[in-house]
Amino acid sequence: MKEFWRVSIIGSGYVGLVAGACLAKLGNKVTLVDIDEEKIKTINNGVYPIYEEGLNEILSQVEIEASSDYQRIVGSDMIFLCVGTPPSEGGSVSLEDITEAAKQVADTLKRGNDYCVIAVKSTVPPGTTEEIVIPILERSRKKAGNDFGVCMAPEFLREGKAVYDFMNPMRLIIGELDKRSGDMLLDLYHDFNVPILRTNLRTAEMIKLASNAFLAMKLSFINEIGNICKQLGIDTHEVAKGMAFDERIGGKFLNAGIGFGGSCLPKDIRMLIAGAQETGYAPRLLEEVSKLNEKQALKPVELLKKHISLKGASIGLLGLAFKPGTDDVRESRAIMIVRALLEEGATIKAYDSLAVENFKRLFPQIEYVSKEDVLNCDAILIITEWEEFNNLDYRGKIIIDGRGVLKAKEARIYEGVCW
Ligand code: UGA
Repeated sequence: MKEFWRVSIIGSGYVGLVAGACLAKLGNKVTLVDIDEEKIKTINNGVYPIYEEGLNEILSQVEIEASSDYQRIVGSDMIFLCVGTPPSEGGSVSLEDITEAAKQVADTLKRGNDYCVIAVKSTVPPGTTEEIVIPILERSRKKAGNDFGVCMAPEFLREGKAVYDFMNPMRLIIGELDKRSGDMLLDLYHDFNVPILRTNLRTAEMIKLASNAFLAMKLSFINEIGNICKQLGIDTHEVAKGMAFDERIGGKFLNAGIGFGGSCLPKDIRMLIAGAQETGYAPRLLEEVSKLNEKQALKPVELLKKHISLKGASIGLLGLAFKPGTDDVRESRAIMIVRALLEEGATIKAYDSLAVENFKRLFPQIEYVSKEDVLNCDAILIITEWEEFNNLDYRGKIIIDGRGVLKAKEARIYEGVCW
């Protein structure tokens, strides 16, 4: 067991920054590299580009070198690629950043002589590490699995709880090209006493995608059950509670509502679908999970129309983030809802605990107000289940609830999307 490892992290998004901070906290020497100089500057000034519970605290306790200069990674024992793989046309993802990062790393490999491990942490289509990353790294004229090691080590971090999840993983998945690289990664994670699966690179890539697709499927499943329950006058939450006693089903990810958003679940399932289609296989179940999720987002607007005419009406939105505990609005259900409401000619007043600034960039034309002012609108939609929404006075209001905020049931007119 080594006292500490010299670890470099490429990419300072959610995964990179959190992994870097946590690995430093575990006693390793961490260098963070990002080509975005502004981001690096702010990080070096102690301001972090994302909101993550507990992250600031860790970053104030550890020393991390942040730089936009790839030369700083020469001499690392391990280099983690944590760059983004944003959605691209046709459901697939852009591998531009990971390709560029691999080129830069290849360049630095030429300079160092010691064996080091390059580990992909970005979520990528199965086969990417083998078919794209390794050939680029080998342009350094060094041989993968011999002169340097390669791993694919997916992270399973929930946004908002990423620090907790990193420090308390449920499992470690280590895809390895060569045994030596897997051994080194295992040593890096020696603090964690959890199930470990050592496997090949493309299996590790698939485990990450299949895990997210399964969670997505669970959500679309309970939303479908919820839509049926709504027709039959049955409370879906009660149904989910009853189902959850069966350990094979489990109670997590059974909160029905307006569907899943964020930068991972919707994109990852599309990535899996696109990849399957390329092989000639039509993944019907996954396609339906994704389609159902898109339809589900617009349920509150459909229900609202039963109660008021939207043209000229003022509609209040409680919540804009894709889930509570984050300021992230990527693929938030609020985006589709706002578009639909604007098309119908409604005026919108919105409130969120953390995500107003991010949402404003997408929709500068709507009004951002206090939660009390939201309640003064003609009707109100609950889009994110922030805890503070359980303390509002909903009496006399028209509420369409997309998330199951119990207190809102006191409203004059209350409708849940699936209950
Ligand atoms: C997800 C996975 O949960 C992580 O394990 C994974 O590592 C991460 O993606 C990733 O790939 O990096 P995250 O996107 O942070 O994490 O969000 P989740 O907590 O999974 O929530 C996703 C969406 O599902 C949210 O919009 C949430 O509101 C919705 N959701 C979740 C429900 O509608 N009902 C539930 O019961 C649970």
